[in-house]
Amino acid sequence: MLIDVVTIFPEYLAPARLSLLGKAADAGIVRLRVHDLRDWTSDRHRTVDDTPYGGGAGMVMRPEPWGRALDDLLAPAGPEARPGTAALVIPTASGELFAQDTAARLAQADHLVFACGRYEGIDARVAAHYRDRVGLAVAELSIGDYVLAGGEAAALVIIEAITRLLPGVLGNAESLAEESHVKPGLLEYPVYTKPPSWRGLDVPEVLTSGHHGRIAEWRRAQAAERTRRMRPDLAGGGFAAPPGTVEG
Ligand code: ADE
Repeated sequence: MLIDVVTIFPEYLAPARLSLLGKAADAGIVRLRVHDLRDWTSDRHRTVDDTPYGGGAGMVMRPEPWGRALDDLLAPAGPEARPGTAALVIPTASGELFAQDTAARLAQADHLVFACGRYEGIDARVAAHYRDRVGLAVAELSIGDYVLAGGEAAALVIIEAITRLLPGVLGNAESLAEESHVKPGLLEYPVYTKPPSWRGLDVPEVLTSGHHGRIAEWRRAQAAERTRRMRPDLAGGGFAAPPGTVEG
């Protein structure tokens, strides 16, 4: 997968070179390129923003540098030309909520271009142009109901969630199937390792019993209980509430 990130703060993406994504890059599974939007400006001051039409606070990113940058990255000519599926990802607090199923869907693409806005966001014609005229998959995504200073931190989150799903990135494919949010509406059960007793707290006996059926049942019940406690907004993975539970 090729991942292009366009930002006015290219250094912000440095952590993407670490850890899992760094390994995926070393293994040739992911190629990450980070670009400075100002390289596509045409004036002496390398301007990327202007005041909003209709008035209001803050500045809006002008469409022209974005158009030039995205045209260059999405439709390279010659040997850099890429067949296959591309998508434009625009992190924004006013986007659709990013979730595990969004990550799984985007992991199918072979080229993702992230447009990281600052200020009050990117002129709305940019998303409209690539979605309606170019016919590209455009995902305007929010990573949560809070407002960040720009799309860079959100892009890091989204890139990490996507790349760890790519074949060959995680050592253990089973851990993908087990974890929170993979089973819709269900959080992951609590996990334990050695030592068996720590500060007077013992590992639940069932986990050292060697009884796979009982372990699986205990984990299912723990996952359901944890989901009800931590995330009552989730469905609970289809598990009925235990007797005496007050449904909220
Ligand atoms: N930019 C600003 N806030 C954001 C959020 N919550 N998610 C994604 N991008 C953002």
